[in-house]
Amino acid sequence: MQSDNILEMKKISKIFPGVKALDGVDFNVKKGEVHCLIGANGAGKSTLMKILSGAYTEDEGEILFDGKVLKPHGTQERRKEGISVIYQELSLFNDLTVGENVYVNNFPKTAAGAVDWKKVYDNTQKLADNLNIKINARAKVSSLNIGQRQLTEIMKALACDAKLIVMDEPSSTLSQSEFEILVKVIKDLKEKGITIIYISHHLEELFIVGNRITVLKDGKFVVCKRTDELNENSLVEYMTGITISQIETEETEVHKVSEEVVLELKDMSNYKVSNINLALHKGEVLGLYGLVGAGRTEILQSIFGLAPITGGEMYLQGEKVNIKDTQDAIGHKIGLAPESRKTQGLVLMLPVWENMSMVALSKFKKNGIIQYKDINEECKNYKEMLNVKTPSVNTITQNLSGGNQQKVILAKWMMQDCDILLLDEPTQGIDVMAKEEIYKLIREMTNMGKSVIVVSSELQELLRISDNIHVMYDGKQIMSSNKASFNSDQILHASVVGRIA
Ligand SMILES: Nc1ncnc2c1ncn2[C@@H]1O[C@H](COP(=O)(O)OP(=O)(O)OP(=O)(O)O)[C@@H](O)[C@H]1O
Ligand SMILES: [Mg+2]
Repeated sequence: MQSDNILEMKKISKIFPGVKALDGVDFNVKKGEVHCLIGANGAGKSTLMKILSGAYTEDEGEILFDGKVLKPHGTQERRKEGISVIYQELSLFNDLTVGENVYVNNFPKTAAGAVDWKKVYDNTQKLADNLNIKINARAKVSSLNIGQRQLTEIMKALACDAKLIVMDEPSSTLSQSEFEILVKVIKDLKEKGITIIYISHHLEELFIVGNRITVLKDGKFVVCKRTDELNENSLVEYMTGITISQIETEETEVHKVSEEVVLELKDMSNYKVSNINLALHKGEVLGLYGLVGAGRTEILQSIFGLAPITGGEMYLQGEKVNIKDTQDAIGHKIGLAPESRKTQGLVLMLPVWENMSMVALSKFKKNGIIQYKDINEECKNYKEMLNVKTPSVNTITQNLSGGNQQKVILAKWMMQDCDILLLDEPTQGIDVMAKEEIYKLIREMTNMGKSVIVVSSELQELLRISDNIHVMYDGKQIMSSNKASFNSDQILHASVVGRIA
């Protein structure tokens, strides 16, 4: 083994029924580097890392770690070797404290054999302090924000003396400021000689954190280069196999929005937001921007009957309405595609087609009889349109990659016959190419006369797709602007400081 490689995965293959998830992949990581692993949804990134962690066993290939060949064995053993994987979906116990979670696999014991709680909390606090992480070791995980939970996972890895930490899409749910903290922590870990494998769909991040990048495509190794030898365009080319000039240039023209107001909020307040005023027009994409926690999701909740309106009014087609619950909202042809794919929206044990069609079922009834053939057709269409990578719509949803599951959720809500569609972080965890498809689909829907409200933490995305953007800060609406006058600096500034510069 070359002395500077801490990890060498050689000719790794893994087959699932109907899918060759990995096909002879080579993956080498140098000691102390941040190595980014990228590829489109379903390329095989998580599978490769699950093989490394011992959660899956490779069908073929060999793994060398820290100078020795790893025998096929489980996650406990791999953790003892110094390999820690933080998965796309975090695995913390919400009802336990930070310290309990950090040491859950190896509680320090007193001489008498009992758990040494003082040590648990002292050591956890020391780990936090060493990384300049502001977390109370005795706090319940349920009280932490997503960023702090991520950091708790990192501390958990360190408590097991990890030499290599894998972060599978750590940033997909982080706010900008949480991401900046993560970047600092990664830098500190690197200085301590810890090796990091970093998976993300946000290509710009790779150039901030990474030393080298390996690209996978359809389960195969494509390239491994230093970040300074690459740029975003060349990465997209490696990921897709298409040269950038072949990719459609983005639409920038100002879209014509009808005068007809389909939804209006007048001084609307609920448990989180106050005095919201907005008008959604027929065929409009309205963007809600703001930091995580600014109240964007809560606006959608009230429109969809999930959070009672405590002040002000809501109008649909000029008529005052009082949406009592989600059934009522759906009856008014409003649809909500919620944020957070793991907790809301999918029954993982059901096939893709059932997940896609469950909300829209009534649309497929003819004379009271559900037309399964039509469902099948439409699901196949959406599979094509959103490029859902799965052998068939009959595949169990659990077997799809993270990003492809997200696309199924989106299809489910887009398939529903609604006039107003509320999308909360619709492209979280979705690769750059599929994002384009989703933007196109949103535009097609508005061309058909539907109206869409999109909540997103990615300003570039909103600037791209919205006709109007409202900026939220701390439960208040502080700015709105239309496509002709979008100014990204101004919007960003407003969202951070809470007023217009
Ligand atoms: N347990 C499983 N059973 C069947 N197929 C699976 C299983 N796990 C993964 N796959 C398939 O293997 C392929 C690779 O999936 P993987 O999760 O590794 O992709 P990924 O690169 O992590 O994608 P994403 O960016 O969407 O998270 C996909 O086609 C997926 O559907
Ligand atoms: Mg994945």
